[in-house]
Amino acid sequence: MSNARLTIDPRLAIGPVHRRLFGSFVEHLGRCVYDGIYEPSHADADEHGFRRDVAALVTELGVSTIRYPGGNFVSGYRWEDGVGPREERPRRLDLAWHSTETNEVGLDEFAHWSREVGAELMYAVNLGTRGVLEALDVLEYANHRSGTALSDARVANGSPEPHGIRMWCLGNEMDGPWQLGHGTADEYARLARKTASAMRQVDPDLELVVCGSSGAGMPTFGEWERVVLSETYDHVDFISCHAYYEPDGDDYAGFLASAVDMDRFIDSVAATADHVKALRRSDKTMMISFDEWNVWYQTRYNEVDKITDPEVWPVAPRLLEDAYTVVDAVVFGSLMISLLRHADRVTAASLAQLVNVIAPIMTEPGGIAWRQTTFFPFSITSRLAQGVALEVAVESPTYDTERFGAVPVVDAVATHDAATGSTAVFLVNRSLTEPISVEIDVAHLGAVVVAESHLLHDEDMHAANTLENPERVGVRPNDSATIADGILSVTLPPVSWTALSLR
Ligand code: AHR
Repeated sequence: MSNARLTIDPRLAIGPVHRRLFGSFVEHLGRCVYDGIYEPSHADADEHGFRRDVAALVTELGVSTIRYPGGNFVSGYRWEDGVGPREERPRRLDLAWHSTETNEVGLDEFAHWSREVGAELMYAVNLGTRGVLEALDVLEYANHRSGTALSDARVANGSPEPHGIRMWCLGNEMDGPWQLGHGTADEYARLARKTASAMRQVDPDLELVVCGSSGAGMPTFGEWERVVLSETYDHVDFISCHAYYEPDGDDYAGFLASAVDMDRFIDSVAATADHVKALRRSDKTMMISFDEWNVWYQTRYNEVDKITDPEVWPVAPRLLEDAYTVVDAVVFGSLMISLLRHADRVTAASLAQLVNVIAPIMTEPGGIAWRQTTFFPFSITSRLAQGVALEVAVESPTYDTERFGAVPVVDAVATHDAATGSTAVFLVNRSLTEPISVEIDVAHLGAVVVAESHLLHDEDMHAANTLENPERVGVRPNDSATIADGILSVTLPPVSWTALSLR
């Protein structure tokens, strides 16, 4: 068996682990909202129509923030349609997903639900087909206490307290030609700057996210960030990154190395932001909101799911309902490792999405809700990653990939919480065939024991949890983890993800 080595030393801090790193995303898309979190006819629905079983899973998942209401959807959305008496709300065409939006759920309902599940609401304004005034209006409706037409309307609609939304996205994926209202970087940058500066006149402490690229493969990637940040640098706090990964045919070796792409993407955006910072002689460091990331079998979705018939505009169709496998969850776990490895720059992130749509939680109308394979690395990392993220200096054998060249077989990161003395380490074995033994130098931690160990692995890397077999894949302890003489030894099976907690 081959070997890898790493060191955990609390002095090698990358940066604090921000709770917002464990955010998620709910879009009015497919069955994420309707027949997902909201299904009034379900036996387990609460008095507001939201499923209690789904809310319990969301809480168990440990999501800190939820980005809402889109996504591509937001660029055709009128937020006013979703507030006030339900029976008066209009049905509209949703051009992004070729669906009918009933507006049964809107800002007020979603803000209350987010609070119920213990998550912070992060709201995206429409800068695709709307502009400064509409952004100001929804801000006033949501956050102003009372005494104006819009804030009083919120109170009359049943929300006496302001929703207190701190984090706002200035549009969505405005670099993408598929986006309603897509334009050049210059056009978007000016609108984003005007919107940000107007919103800050209402509340200077808002945290604003300007749109970066919707993928590192976009033809405008790099230049888009430079132009947008040159215009908005002083007015925003974050630039967004979005990335989705899938295997290229049967190239699972390359797929397992997807975090290499995420690492490079983050490093490039940080470098571009720092270039603008230097040109402006600014003291401020721009943070990254990685507010859409996941495994997504987009190629399959594009071919099979897409609705194009001009006569067909369904309500809550089954869209983007990927069934995640073990190998998907291992890649997913390594993407979380990449985010933690960049804790100094990525201080917010949103797993896209939360329920039914490329989601860790699935539901059946009138039926059960279940955890996908990706649920486990998310919930465990969210719970165990506390304090600061640590460099671990992995020494690992490499393997060759067509996509990224030579890639380390083992990927890892650790976190350490000085307040509780607890340490966590997250590891992935990318080998398709071989286990690997890892020696972790834990001497700098003093006397520690393995308090928890979790292993995600299966003989069948394509195994998934489904409606018929919702508990086919789970996590079990990684019993190989032992500590002797300041060395933690652990064996990682092929295509596996492991989390260890040390106390
Ligand atoms: O998450 C699904 C879609 O992916 C979002 O609507 C869009 O922002 C991205 O392209």
